[in-house]
Amino acid sequence: MTVHFIGAGPGAPDLLTLRGRDLIAASPVCLYAGSLVPTAILDHCPPGAQIVNTASMALDDIIAAIKAAHAAGQDVARLHSGDLSVWSAMGEQLRRLRAFDIPFTVTPGVPAFAAAAAALETELTLPTIAQSVILTRTPGRASAMPTDESLTRFAATGATLAIHLSIHNLPKVVRDLVPDYGDDCPVAVVWRASWPDQRIVRATLGTIEAAVAGSMERTALILIGRVLDSDSAAESSLYAAGYDRRFRPQSADSRFSGHKE
Ligand SMILES: C[S@@+](CC[C@H](N)C(=O)[O-])C[C@H]1O[C@@H](n2cnc3c(N)ncnc32)[C@H](O)[C@@H]1O
Repeated sequence: MTVHFIGAGPGAPDLLTLRGRDLIAASPVCLYAGSLVPTAILDHCPPGAQIVNTASMALDDIIAAIKAAHAAGQDVARLHSGDLSVWSAMGEQLRRLRAFDIPFTVTPGVPAFAAAAAALETELTLPTIAQSVILTRTPGRASAMPTDESLTRFAATGATLAIHLSIHNLPKVVRDLVPDYGDDCPVAVVWRASWPDQRIVRATLGTIEAAVAGSMERTALILIGRVLDSDSAAESSLYAAGYDRRFRPQSADSRFSGHKE
């Protein structure tokens, strides 16, 4: 018996790894974080699977459900939204499974920020504009921020920001970022990226609050940075005609000539 932690992706049931899909299909028990994982994903469960929405359960109850499946020798598919490496609450579950000697695997998923960037048809890193993406959030009731991780500190970098769990804090986001990014810095809010009712609002730091006007709750990602308005960006050297590189040496003297990978 094994508990398979699976990144269930941003919402669309086909934005799942093949491994994740196959593990769901092979597991007679499925525990899913129903606050963010849409029920369409559950279509991958086998007929007759025991399906439990853990949104209203406490951690001890979730572990009890896993232990019951363990006692019955049944594999469990444990689904969290997006990828498991950010804000999934997988860590505390793994700690307990290790303590109880219950085997598990971890399968990554498509994170929300990647789905939002795809919806916007944009790269979040562009030469000379931004070469870093900061995945962050504002403080919440259950999670204070470490003191050095304030938006104002991140703003000093000018990096592209992907701000999670914060649509209700939009006024604070704007307040903290305007001094470094400027009123005219482009912002996009993507609500329910990849869901059938996905919505996108594009504006600037100066206009985003009025543009969203309280119309979006919870499952929204705020992307901020000059890459969002980037038609004039320099292009990457990678495919530039004269760029000497391992896979396309430019002359017989190239340090890459004769190099076989
Ligand atoms: C608890 S975090 C989970 C993040 C997830 N583990 C990931 O890899 O993206 C929930 C936050 O992720 C963002 N989010 C998750 N799914 C999203 C989606 N489909 N569209 C937009 N934002 C989403 C929202 O900011 C939401 O408040």
